[in-house]
Amino acid sequence: MLLSCLQLTFVLLEQFVVSTFLVRPVSATMIPGRYLAHQEGLPKLPVPPLRQTCERYLAVLEPLVSEQELEHTRKLMAEFLTPGGAGERLQKGLERRAHKMENWLSDWWLQTAYLDFRMPVVVHSSPGVVLPRLEFSDRQGQIRFAAKLIAGVLDFKTMIDNETLPVEYLGGNSLCMNQYYQVLCSCRVPGPRRDSVVNHARAKRPPTFITVVHNYQFFVLEVYSSDGSLLTVDQIYMQLEKIWNSSLQTNKEPIGILTSQHRNTWAKAYANLIKDKTNKESVQAIQKSIFTVCLDAPVPRVSDEMYRSRAALQMLHGGGSRWNSGNRWFDKTLQFIIGEDGTCGLSYEHAPAEGPPIVSMVDHVVEYTKKTEMVRTPLVPLPMPQKLRFNITPEIKKDIEKAKQNMNIMVHDLDVRVIVFSHFGKNVPKSHKMSPDAFIQVALQLAYFRMYQRCCSTYESASLRMFRLGRTDTIRSASIDSLNFSRTMDDPSKPVAEKVALLEKAVKAHRAYTDMAIRGEAIDRHLLGLRLQAIEDLVSMPKVFMDTSYAVAMHYNLSTSQVPAKTDCVMCFGPVVPDGYGVCYNPMEEHINFAVSAFNSCSETNAARLAQGLEDALLDMRDLVEQMPRAKL
Ligand SMILES: *[C@@H]1O[C@H](CO)[C@@H](O)[C@H](O)[C@H]1NC(C)=O
Ligand SMILES: *[C@@H]1O[C@H](CO)[C@@H](O)[C@H](O)[C@H]1NC(C)=O
Ligand SMILES: *[C@@H]1O[C@H](CO)[C@@H](O)[C@H](O)[C@H]1NC(C)=O
Ligand SMILES: *[C@@H]1O[C@H](CO)[C@@H](O)[C@H](O)[C@H]1NC(C)=O
Repeated sequence: MLLSCLQLTFVLLEQFVVSTFLVRPVSATMIPGRYLAHQEGLPKLPVPPLRQTCERYLAVLEPLVSEQELEHTRKLMAEFLTPGGAGERLQKGLERRAHKMENWLSDWWLQTAYLDFRMPVVVHSSPGVVLPRLEFSDRQGQIRFAAKLIAGVLDFKTMIDNETLPVEYLGGNSLCMNQYYQVLCSCRVPGPRRDSVVNHARAKRPPTFITVVHNYQFFVLEVYSSDGSLLTVDQIYMQLEKIWNSSLQTNKEPIGILTSQHRNTWAKAYANLIKDKTNKESVQAIQKSIFTVCLDAPVPRVSDEMYRSRAALQMLHGGGSRWNSGNRWFDKTLQFIIGEDGTCGLSYEHAPAEGPPIVSMVDHVVEYTKKTEMVRTPLVPLPMPQKLRFNITPEIKKDIEKAKQNMNIMVHDLDVRVIVFSHFGKNVPKSHKMSPDAFIQVALQLAYFRMYQRCCSTYESASLRMFRLGRTDTIRSASIDSLNFSRTMDDPSKPVAEKVALLEKAVKAHRAYTDMAIRGEAIDRHLLGLRLQAIEDLVSMPKVFMDTSYAVAMHYNLSTSQVPAKTDCVMCFGPVVPDGYGVCYNPMEEHINFAVSAFNSCSETNAARLAQGLEDALLDMRDLVEQMPRAKL
């Protein structure tokens, strides 16, 4: 019954999907300099006032730590803020940095959040995107769809190259478009202590090829003809078929699985790998390529109910060394993944970009694949795509075996539940004049509270793209108000009116924090900046960054992100702490797609239970608000 209900929702949605998600270029011809002119017009990220951040930090701690711990932190904070003290000095340093640089935060953030982070990018950093299952179930369908998808991405690329991509807006303000220029022709490269990202998009001769991987074998596929025009879908199809036919052997070494290792381990293996000239050239081709397409082998079928969860795992880690984990280059910024069974989605390396630009590209690509027909054009014979060769020494073979083992441990440890909450979407909160995102976040707080009888440090990413080169700050969704609501919601002695009032207050508090964050006035990046400034100035770390409260505040048991898309897809990612959850969602008008992750090795967490709790919380909150006459709200 439930299933047929779900299917109906999908059918209806399909009919509503008209070709309006195609991003149209703002001009038919190239507009040189438009991108830079736009960027220069954007405001610079401010450094918030010191006292404001410190006061807000203490308020954030209130629901998270004991009164005793809070009192201790208050004392440390007073010391930090003494006139002429550490706080003021570090703040001055930050302000000088902000004056000198285009963005005082973005380089630091790229380093600390991504390039210095040594855990594997798989599960711990790279998100995946799951698209609705496609209708094919054979090689021909897989290749045909892959050809259209490639053409769709290249169509988007032309708008980037021509600088005709429409500027995006948030609440009337234009946004920084830089991330779009960072995701193509780009790749992460492991280093012994710190990684780097190479980007060939603005090279003198930018790459004109993509890489395709099938049965663990990589190929270079030229996608521009000698006259500079793009290959047609038909031509791409033929080339993909050649690749497919010449990579039928399945006994190849899964060289790409090396990229799933701990970064220090991979850096060592990498240095060894590229000692060989052929290997080095092959690796460089992957790094330079515009993007990668993974043509995946079929995987065991699962029930329709579990389909999206399984697809999420395929996007996040490829299913293990027996399946498609070796059919990847996890350092590659953009990898589109297409299975023979109609599975489709992508995996992306997080360092160069956030989710929203990625899914807006996905929206365009999906729409493009729908409108594109395969027209048989008279075929000019094209050269065979070049296979990338690797010489596997015994040492490399050993590294691959180790990587396989570690990958399989990660695969066993990760639990992901993708659910379609089909009862309502943005429509219900909107009809009660509440922010849909705030409503969902408060529901998540309620679900967590019901499981653990407490709230936890919660991270929701907020966009700083109103500022030049802006990335993210943190919306802290656990507040005194959300906790007060969670405590009262299930108390039968409390009247409905009080519960509704507390819900409204919690939703408003979340909304206010969000507004503050996108204005560049949240606390997390500012506190990080003060800490990094202390390191840069070689002064001792202020005690306020070393107490229990700070550790609790930075331990995100809930790491969340709203990534709205027009396509009926969902982004997914792993938890950021061993005993936490990752929760990503795409709220559509009449349903919400959620991806919830947890680690099996933690006995306290359970993705399916939190997902169920979230459904219950959303339904209970709807019932609550519907008990009140609308006029009173
Ligand atoms: C990009 O710009 C070139 C040169 O002005 C033009 O010929 C081409 O049609 C443009 N393509 C798109 C898709 O805007
Ligand atoms: C690939 O193999 C199939 C099946 O053997 C064949 O029909 C097709 O013509 C081949 N395509 C190319 C481009 O070699
Ligand atoms: C919690 O809500 C009640 C109203 O039900 C209110 O009296 C109390 O002050 C609130 N507590 C906090 C800490 O906001
Ligand atoms: C959440 O974080 C705290 C540490 O701040 C920890 O004690 C707790 O066990 C964590 N896990 C869960 C499931 O709450």
